[in-house]
Amino acid sequence: MFGLQLLVFGIIILPALSAPSDIEHAMVISSTESSTKEDGKEGQDTYPTPPTVPQIYEMRIWSNINNRFARTVVVSKVRNFANVAKEVSFSTLLPESAFISGFVMEVEGKNYTAFVKEKEEAKRIYDQAIASGVAAGYVAVNARDSNRFTVSVNIRPEEKAAFYLTYEQFLVRKNELYEQVINIHPGQPVKNLGVQVVISESRKITNLKAPPLRSGNEIGTDKLELDPRADIEIVNDTAATVTFAPNLERQKELAHIFGTKVENGLVGQFVIQYDVERDPQGGEVLVQDGYFVHFFAPTELQPLPKQIVFILDTSGSMRGEKLQQLKEAMSKILDQLNERDLFNLVDFNSNARVWNLDDAAMSVWYPQRTSSEETDTPNLQYIEFPKAYPVNRENIEKARRAVMDLKVDGSTSMCGALKVGLRLVETERIRPQDSIERQPIIIFLTDGRPTDMNTSSIISQITEFNSELRRSAIFALAFGDEVDKTFLQTLAIRNSGFAKPIYVAADTSLQLQDFYRQIASPLLSNVTFKYEPSVTSLTKTEFPIHFGGSEIVVAGYCGTKLPSPTIDSTSTRGRITLKPTVIRTVSNMERLWAYLNINQLLEKKDTSEIESGTFKRKALELALKYSFVTPVSSLVVVKPNYTTSTVDTEQTKQVGHLNRRLYSPRRGSSRMHHAKSVQESELDLLTHTLPWLREILTDDLVKLPQGTYKLGINETISDVVNCPKTPLNQEGRCKLLHNCPKAYPFLRTSLNFFDHFCVLKNEFAGVCCPN
Ligand SMILES: *[C@@H]1O[C@H](CO)[C@@H](O)[C@H](O)[C@H]1NC(C)=O
Ligand SMILES: *[C@@H]1O[C@H](CO)[C@@H](O)[C@H](O)[C@H]1NC(C)=O
Ligand SMILES: *[C@@H]1O[C@H](CO)[C@@H](O)[C@H](O)[C@H]1NC(C)=O
Ligand SMILES: *[C@@H]1O[C@H](CO)[C@@H](O)[C@H](O)[C@H]1NC(C)=O
Ligand SMILES: *[C@@H]1O[C@H](CO)[C@@H](O)[C@H](O)[C@H]1NC(C)=O
Ligand SMILES: *[C@@H]1O[C@H](CO)[C@@H](O)[C@H](O)[C@H]1NC(C)=O
Repeated sequence: MFGLQLLVFGIIILPALSAPSDIEHAMVISSTESSTKEDGKEGQDTYPTPPTVPQIYEMRIWSNINNRFARTVVVSKVRNFANVAKEVSFSTLLPESAFISGFVMEVEGKNYTAFVKEKEEAKRIYDQAIASGVAAGYVAVNARDSNRFTVSVNIRPEEKAAFYLTYEQFLVRKNELYEQVINIHPGQPVKNLGVQVVISESRKITNLKAPPLRSGNEIGTDKLELDPRADIEIVNDTAATVTFAPNLERQKELAHIFGTKVENGLVGQFVIQYDVERDPQGGEVLVQDGYFVHFFAPTELQPLPKQIVFILDTSGSMRGEKLQQLKEAMSKILDQLNERDLFNLVDFNSNARVWNLDDAAMSVWYPQRTSSEETDTPNLQYIEFPKAYPVNRENIEKARRAVMDLKVDGSTSMCGALKVGLRLVETERIRPQDSIERQPIIIFLTDGRPTDMNTSSIISQITEFNSELRRSAIFALAFGDEVDKTFLQTLAIRNSGFAKPIYVAADTSLQLQDFYRQIASPLLSNVTFKYEPSVTSLTKTEFPIHFGGSEIVVAGYCGTKLPSPTIDSTSTRGRITLKPTVIRTVSNMERLWAYLNINQLLEKKDTSEIESGTFKRKALELALKYSFVTPVSSLVVVKPNYTTSTVDTEQTKQVGHLNRRLYSPRRGSSRMHHAKSVQESELDLLTHTLPWLREILTDDLVKLPQGTYKLGINETISDVVNCPKTPLNQEGRCKLLHNCPKAYPFLRTSLNFFDHFCVLKNEFAGVCCPN
């Protein structure tokens, strides 16, 4: 999956104006809009100098996997050995599917805790922070399908800082394995470096292993010398612990094997893979405190016969390496088709060609659409389409030759090509001589943007055309950087498939084969989960296809009554009904339920035509309730003193090599900003953060509709005065403005302040401060 998190999770760091307790410093922020791309306007002079990294004396990563839900904590402890204050950056890569759920920064003995809040407000403060300082940025290490989290802080000589980042993610089963990938890239050799993964499952753990470390980018480069030599301890059938703790020597050795600078330390991915023993039939339902999660991956099923239609882009932009890799991949994929399958080969550029494998010269090109929409469908309707080819040695060989003959030229007429593919499916469905029911699968590979019509028209036309006898699952492969990933994602999801990015690199062919393996064996179609009416808050319950090697997961709330679902689906034996086993467990099903729900809501927000706003609101509600940083929520933390930084995590792009360059100037996509440290008076700081204050302030007096009161900038009032309405609409405590940084994000104009104004000691202006 991709496209759901194309934009960033914002993290906002606010200045602490005074120094009371930790919580005092934390700010509550809300927002709904994601930060937009940088416009890349910065010039030469804003290139950052690489931070001189004070020494990391300890880095530990703990990952706790409980019934496939992983909670990972990254701890990094640094010390400034220099005799001047230094900036410390903490930067970590996390899987794209993970949600950050906590961040604590310990600076000079004090903890600063981050809070997850809505995005719109966060954005405002973020912009304000940028406006107040010099923007700069750097590109650190990248890996595919990852997001980067970076934060930096100044520490004084001989002082220490520690960073605690928590993120959570559900491990999706792929090719019969769950895989936990942990990025390690401290940027320097670290004396105490360790990763510990604790797995605890409801069923027997199988195939547990720690394969060779990966670079994070190219696949298929497993090297034996990169064996992590991890310590795998099997506690019992359902629990295990895996430890990876390379010493300085080994870190340098690994850096050397990866071809990176030894002084940059280890840069790689530590990977754990495992599977669990399964219920052969209806799966299992785990219940805890009324929340349940249903895992379904039946064994002992025959794959459904399928008709697979390959629609391959041969427009001009595929020239060169891409086409070569495509040919290589197709040649391998063709070998893996099953005996009872049928297949078609279509390639398209300005027109779409259905290959005649017996006589390539007889292959039919379907004309390019004219500008009028209506003429397209009728045109195709009266054309007789060639039949699909059965899988046998001879046909595969012919297809391979056809693929080798593919040539590139022309533009990218996607809609026409997809319609041709759907008609090929229909042609098979209505052939009387073949009574086998086949699962139609369209694999649509493209590296460009459509030239025949706009993307919204393609989505609506194809989704409508893909019905009745033509009904197929469409999988989109987004090849390279030029494609419109959101479009392909929406197209595929609305048509029972999914989209996948294919990176253009030396391993492109392997990525394509890896994708094909995921969909090679459809086991069930039209899978419907049914729960009793008392079950609520369900995630998706209908799945067009279940593929061998994957897993379907449904979560919901069942209260005190144990659920008793049934699963109806179509298998090679026709329509079947399965029932799962129900198990009570003690792990946190509720968080897993929330995680799955948020993900589906975000997907719906991005791909549904209507009600996008509703899905967004619901996703935000859950994200705030369960403290997940998602594309609709942000993290906010107050940073010691006035060294404002705003920080983001972002989806990283593939960069060829994980550590091509550790620090390099921004190229428009990185998004980190440091503001200059400023030493200002308390009052300056306050008016800087709340600019409207200047308009109503004379010396220490604030003028309000309620009267004139003292600001009390040099005062400390510890009286406990309750007040009815904080900006969060709760009861709170009346506090002097400079003692309530939590309220600042909500005080955007003086009017906001008037709304939450309260009086202290009869003479001071206070604000109703959230507890
Ligand atoms: C700060 O928080 C971390 C993680 O929650 C904790 O381990 C540490 O002891 C805390 N430090 C202080 C000074 O409270
Ligand atoms: C396996 O070990 C874990 C962790 O020590 C424990 O919680 C669990 O109850 C054990 N399971 C069995 C079946 O003994
Ligand atoms: C896409 O094209 C259709 C028909 O040509 C038009 O009605 C629609 O407004 C276009 N949409 C966009 C977003 O340009
Ligand atoms: C899926 O199965 C249900 C019965 O469970 C049936 O009503 C429905 O028409 C089927 N859908 C398709 C697309 O076959
Ligand atoms: C802010 O900086 C000053 C000196 O620059 C220091 O005395 C003070 O303790 C710092 N406050 C916090 C909260 O770190
Ligand atoms: C607050 O203290 C500062 C420095 O100590 C002083 O310059 C300023 O006048 C004081 N403000 C008030 C209103 O007392």
